[in-house]
Amino acid sequence: MLTREEATIRIQQLREILSENNRLYYVENAPVMSDFEFDALMKELSGLEKQYPDLVTADSPTQHVGSDLSAAKSGGREFARYRHRYPMLSLGNTYDISEVVAFAERAAKSIGNAFSYSCELKFDGTAICLTYRKGVLFRALTRGDGTVGDDVTENVRHISNIPGTLSGTGIPDEFEIRGEIYMPYKAFDRLNAERERDEDPPFANPRNAASGSLKLTDPAEVGRRGLECTLYHMLGENLPFETHDQALCAAKSWGLPVSDKRRICRNISEIEEYIDFWDNERKFLPFATDGIVIKVNELPYQRELGYTAKFPRWAVAYKFKAEQAVTKLLSIDYQVGRTGAVTPVANLDPVQLSGTVVKRASLHNSEQMTLLDIRIGDYVYVEKGGEIIPKITGVELSMRGTDVTFPHFPDRCPDCGSLLVRDEGEARYFCPNTDGCPTQIKGKLVHFISRKAMNVIAGDATIEQLYNLGLVKTPADFYSLTKEDLLRLDGWKDRSAQRFLDSLAESRKVTFDHVLFALGIRYVGESTARELAAYFRNIDALAAASREDLLQVEDIGEVIADSLTAYFKDAKHIEMISRLKSAGLQFETEQAGGPVSDILEGKTIVISGNFSVSRDRMKQLIVSHGGKNSSSLSGKTSFLLAGEKPGPEKMKKAGLSGIAVISEQDFMKMISTGESGRKPADRNGSMQLTLFQETEGK
Ligand code: IVH
Repeated sequence: MLTREEATIRIQQLREILSENNRLYYVENAPVMSDFEFDALMKELSGLEKQYPDLVTADSPTQHVGSDLSAAKSGGREFARYRHRYPMLSLGNTYDISEVVAFAERAAKSIGNAFSYSCELKFDGTAICLTYRKGVLFRALTRGDGTVGDDVTENVRHISNIPGTLSGTGIPDEFEIRGEIYMPYKAFDRLNAERERDEDPPFANPRNAASGSLKLTDPAEVGRRGLECTLYHMLGENLPFETHDQALCAAKSWGLPVSDKRRICRNISEIEEYIDFWDNERKFLPFATDGIVIKVNELPYQRELGYTAKFPRWAVAYKFKAEQAVTKLLSIDYQVGRTGAVTPVANLDPVQLSGTVVKRASLHNSEQMTLLDIRIGDYVYVEKGGEIIPKITGVELSMRGTDVTFPHFPDRCPDCGSLLVRDEGEARYFCPNTDGCPTQIKGKLVHFISRKAMNVIAGDATIEQLYNLGLVKTPADFYSLTKEDLLRLDGWKDRSAQRFLDSLAESRKVTFDHVLFALGIRYVGESTARELAAYFRNIDALAAASREDLLQVEDIGEVIADSLTAYFKDAKHIEMISRLKSAGLQFETEQAGGPVSDILEGKTIVISGNFSVSRDRMKQLIVSHGGKNSSSLSGKTSFLLAGEKPGPEKMKKAGLSGIAVISEQDFMKMISTGESGRKPADRNGSMQLTLFQETEGK
């Protein structure tokens, strides 16, 4: 037992570790600790706090649920926040069946009468609270910090199994129903395969993918992610149900997604039977579950048992340990990807894990190898956690033999021999020979023609041959291929060659956002390409954009901005783009977003406040009319475009430095003049100046 002084230090340490891991788990969606380790530390903390109750503080992680609230961005908060009508709590959890027995005994003692349990799967996703008013979905909030949640209603409307409108009888005027949003394995594998291909960091598991996807700012993209929902807890005033089970059956009858894997149990042996059954059977479910939830079924007894600050006393979660296997590490391959990232992949003595034989596992990067202090010949722990390829989570040091050898992360590219580089802040090594390393070249070609890029029908083997025959070295070469060239490929006949040429011809219609994605610029994945295409509208504006211009775009951070500026600085890339342009590919966004002009040419504009359209749209308008958007006022600022509630500091500074302030309405008038087809020569500066002056001082 720790002395009071020792306990004080350990408590402080545990609180820091747990708070940081709560943040990584709920906000970053990138946990570094397994649930099992986290729960063990939480248990240690609550044990010490029980021993020394006067050391409990309100901000201890034992006293509140981890918060998923999104951090505010520079442009403001992404989601509105609302207070939960009923606090949104977590569940007490255990990995130990004897603690489930203790829970059941405590409940029985306190209730004193016969009662039942509802046993359910514990869905491994992210919690959601839906409010329905008069049978219509009114609002969807995340758990947030348990008291207030992020409003993700628009995103939730794009989740296919959540109904916007209910039907049936007995629907209360208003009620809340809570549940879990999760990503089935299939959707998760698809998403991660795309991310791997785009060299976006893959999600560690379906839970992180679900919570990351739920917080996207583009509801249509949320819809594409294949999320699903299961609801498991109804709340409201004077609801006409005696039991939790009745409430869920009613919810199901109104069209809400409720699990059919629930079971009413009468005693502990039925609960154990349910647990044993699902401990094995869950491996065959199409989605991740991390345990079983056992709830007192009768609602009056639930009310009687009540809540602690963090958990209901009427429910407990029994959690399954992640499945692990121990096997020997035989060797490590170092693989080069399309953007040159070098990934260590472990070759293992084949071992059975969650129904499949595992032969290879990811070691992520050199840092991870150092952290694990791994040697070839070590016995290692492999876990599946839903990833595309399993990962190595630890080394069993007690089994380390004397014949193990130290792995050497190569300092040269395993393919082309170039010296590897590591960018600042990057855990990965890269082969810098972007345009000369055969693996990278082939990878880029495969990416260029892939379905979400140019969608040209051809397999990796075709690319391999085209490259080996020296016919295609850059994407632009595809468009110079002739039928004669193609007939040189193994087994290709007139028909296959024609089909390939037709597919290439068809790809000329692919829209600019896909073409931009196809270029394979590092860190420019599908959604980034979409945003850039919508914002800059053509490749020339994008290529001319400065780092500062790029940082104005929502979701574009420094890493992407640097990658883009480096890409467009390279004359080889500019030449390739020009060849692709001549081949007829689309390098501008169609004019659905409104006409463009150059009426704002030479103008640097700062925006502040709220507008009738989004701030991003406002910035797009500036760029598409030839202007530059800047985030801060300076001597170069032409005018401050002020919406509703502009920042007082900016207004003050503009006033002091004599910078004109113009309203949204006047700005719209100004650009519509540009849109009316006036040529630059027709424009007269004094007309614009009059406009600025008119609005000054408003
Ligand atoms: S009932 C008052 N039932 O697990 C809390 N929760 O680790 C009522 N979860 O916060 C929650 N499956 O997000 C309940 N069948 C289920 C569940 C479930 C998953 C989640 C929920 C909860 C977390 C606790």
